[in-house]
Amino acid sequence: MIISGKDLAKKIKQDIAERVPELTATYGRAPHLAVILVGEDPASQSYVKSKGKDAEQVGYKSTTIRLPEETSEAELLDVIAGLNADDTVDGVLVQLPVPKHIDEDRVIEAISHEKDVDGFHPANVASLWQKRDCVYPCTPKGVIRMLDEAGVQIEGKRAVVIGRSNIVGLPMAKMLLDRNATVTVAHSRTRDLAQVTREADILIAAVGRLRFVTADMVKPGAVVIDVGVNRDPATGKLAGDVDYDAVEGIASVITPVPGGVGPMTRACLMENTLECYLRRVRK
Ligand code: GUN
Repeated sequence: MIISGKDLAKKIKQDIAERVPELTATYGRAPHLAVILVGEDPASQSYVKSKGKDAEQVGYKSTTIRLPEETSEAELLDVIAGLNADDTVDGVLVQLPVPKHIDEDRVIEAISHEKDVDGFHPANVASLWQKRDCVYPCTPKGVIRMLDEAGVQIEGKRAVVIGRSNIVGLPMAKMLLDRNATVTVAHSRTRDLAQVTREADILIAAVGRLRFVTADMVKPGAVVIDVGVNRDPATGKLAGDVDYDAVEGIASVITPVPGGVGPMTRACLMENTLECYLRRVRK
């Protein structure tokens, strides 16, 4: 079985789009997502464009602020402060990575945690790990939704997450743990990695290396979720962390790249924006 993140994401966005007119009438304005991009990284430019397009598609107000590469940290923090103070803005997102002369942690901390639609602010991270109300990071949130939609039981299963990033691996592990999986976080220093990943009923690949997960690393019948987005130098096309062609016949459930986790991340960003909006207008 192949889980189409594309189709599920479309459904999620349609559900949101259906709710927005009534919410706009009730609260006097539509949800508003502001996205900041510093510099001209092509991948980031494309992500930011998609986020703006998604927001408009579901009926949100969308603001995209493009700042030059040489923007100073102080200037960026000023822009963020302005958006924090603007009552008509519900979500603030700074596309990562930021240029090297800017401290990423300082940027993340500068965003009001109530408008932190990425769920990267330390207040949201702490809330996630202490099982309090939080904004869930979009990618792991999207993965859990895909597993649920595919009817994959998480409770009691052995889950292995390859990768320990703040954006994906760590929150993914915590969210699987909260669904009562037994979770292992594997990484570049894990010894006998294939032996570890072969234990997985649910295998999440979030390493950022082209076709890193090979057939010998997957238990027959496992559920394999590919979070990777890599450029294949041979074809110039996008491909995942999983050697899809080799693993497809072994896994019971697999996600494609593109059209898998990526669209779900974007759909969950729209959900997070809606949640931040509702918390603010209902206060
Ligand atoms: N860069 C790569 N992934 C992300 C993400 O989820 N959010 C932001 N803001 N930047 C990213």
